[in-house]
Amino acid sequence: MRRRRFLQGIAAATFQPALSACMRSAREEEQVEDEEPEGIALQLAAGSINRMYGSAFSEMMLNASSRARAMTLTQCASITPEWSLKWDRLAPSANSTDFTAADAIANFARTHGKRMRGHTLLWHQGVPTWAGEQLQNTREWDVVRSYFNAVMPRYGDIVDEWDVVNEAIEIGHRPDGLRHNQFMEAFGPEYIDWAFWTARDAAPQARLYLNEYGLEYFSAEEGARRLNLLRLLERLKSRGVPIDGVGLQAHLDLRKGKVYREGIYGLLRDITNMELGISVTELDVREADSGGSLEARDRAVADEVRRYMDIVLQFPNVGSVTTWGLSDRYSWLRYKDGGRRDNRGLPYDDKWRRKPMRSALEAAFLGQQSTT
Ligand code: G3I
Repeated sequence: MRRRRFLQGIAAATFQPALSACMRSAREEEQVEDEEPEGIALQLAAGSINRMYGSAFSEMMLNASSRARAMTLTQCASITPEWSLKWDRLAPSANSTDFTAADAIANFARTHGKRMRGHTLLWHQGVPTWAGEQLQNTREWDVVRSYFNAVMPRYGDIVDEWDVVNEAIEIGHRPDGLRHNQFMEAFGPEYIDWAFWTARDAAPQARLYLNEYGLEYFSAEEGARRLNLLRLLERLKSRGVPIDGVGLQAHLDLRKGKVYREGIYGLLRDITNMELGISVTELDVREADSGGSLEARDRAVADEVRRYMDIVLQFPNVGSVTTWGLSDRYSWLRYKDGGRRDNRGLPYDDKWRRKPMRSALEAAFLGQQSTT
């Protein structure tokens, strides 16, 4: 409890003035009643155990919500552009790159002393149409190298860690467990090696990560995904590929039961034994489809997050935890196909009231007794 009081003291001294100024204007925008007192800022709670806490941050949050900006400033040490730093956003058409949106988010980070995660360079869902066609027609790596060389140095002052390859694993595509995407089609499985070497050349100081999802539950599919990820990492390490770590997206899903402690622990143990870093990169919770009271739903979300955090925080090389947003108001889970329009899988609700998930994150960082 003494550490909590100490951190609360820092929180009040550090954030209250900034928060008060932002909040006055933000409150005019989104009036909130009966708000629980803000706890210790999540970035402070994480910092107390030498981890970094951050959140996804969108153009909508930057441009349309003073509350989103204020809460991001008080809670987060880092931000991850949710869309703005992806290839299809930066270069929707050939021979022209528009950094306006990415620069705006980067300048928000620079202005307020925040770090930024580089998300993400090669992703099968983030390839602009023209680039996909060029890869297929020419099978030349130059277009990838030009893209990396244009983007990575531009943000090198605030990006310590890049998701170089995102979602390389897919079950049922190939015997080696890799996804058959545009890069695989054009270059074969060595595209992953080339991506990391090209990224190392473009940003020698940055940590280079492989980012993956579907690794948290007890099922044949997720067991195979964990195994295929480890095999890929072993191959990359055996070839001396400059990979520094693994991003665990951690999109938890209450429809799949509870997180599989042994499976997650074993995965992180084996990644750690390869001397790789680990980041939790997109933590949120997809609720089950059934109803239930808000209190019961929020409790179930918080308990799952705490179970997950208690496993991953056992590993000192888990350097950061990023939630895929702060408020349910902006959660992709509400808008994606198959999503739940009223999903409550982030730390704050639509009106920025803190929820049990936020308390669970704080308690996990502070090592407080868990009740799950
Ligand atoms: O803002 C424009 C809007 O002006 C336009 O009218 C509309 C038309 O489609 O598009 C809007 O941009 C959308 C953007 O999100 C901002 O909301 C893009 O179409 C849409 O593709 C984009 O989706 C993002 C998605 O990745 C694809 O990049 C989601 O926000 C983002 O949450 C999601 O994040 C991914 C991670 O990068 C990787 N892991 C899975 C995760 C969830 O899919």
